[in-house]
Amino acid sequence: MTTVRRVLPDEYYKYRKHLKSLDAHSKYLRFGYHIQDSMIDSLCDKFEAELDKNILFCIENDELEFVAVGHIALQDEMELAFSVLTEYQGKGLGNQLFKRVIQWCRTNSKLKGCMVCLSTNSVVKHLCLKYGIHLKNDGPETMASIELDRPNLGTYITEATESNLAIADYLGKRLIRGLRYK
Ligand SMILES: CC(C)(COP(=O)(O)OP(=O)(O)OC[C@H]1O[C@@H](n2cnc3c(N)ncnc32)[C@H](O)[C@@H]1OP(=O)(O)O)[C@@H](O)C(=O)NCCC(=O)NCCS
Repeated sequence: MTTVRRVLPDEYYKYRKHLKSLDAHSKYLRFGYHIQDSMIDSLCDKFEAELDKNILFCIENDELEFVAVGHIALQDEMELAFSVLTEYQGKGLGNQLFKRVIQWCRTNSKLKGCMVCLSTNSVVKHLCLKYGIHLKNDGPETMASIELDRPNLGTYITEATESNLAIADYLGKRLIRGLRYK
């Protein structure tokens, strides 16, 4: 079972490594332009300085590295971003990340925003359609406006259940790792 969980404040430094580890094409799809690692450093400095404006969800591997990250940037306009390391793509992690991030946005009344969505990125378009992200200017543009549905009872119940499962996963992985290195 793979669990998506909220990234804790003292773990934000791992996001920097995650973004830099993406291959060039994935970086292009994630940011919408060809980004240098020095720019990723500058962006991550900002994210780490403004934790309350940059909500992260991650999926980690057994080595506790971030292999998939969903980013909710709460600036003037909310912006969503998703990234899965190349060797982990196509295994359903992006799907789980989308579901969890959208759930968090809906239960926290963050219903409008934008997202980098290149017209060639058919995987992301598929996931948007699947999770009710209404892409408003789904043309050749890089940025797409998004609008999410209001939450219902099921959204709140699932959010509470998944938050608790994530705590169990967090503790379990660290316990197993601790025993392994004893
Ligand atoms: C986009 C991304 C996050 C998706 O993550 P992933 O782990 O590779 O995706 P998944 O394995 O969960 O598959 C997603 C879905 O896309 C579908 N899919 C795969 N290839 C597809 C294609 N060419 N066209 C349409 N749908 C496709 C899969 O069947 C799956 O659908 P399902 O869940 O209904 O079965 C990941 O590929 C990534 O990091 N890409 C680079 C960065 C990026 O594009 N970010 C998005 C913009 S911010």
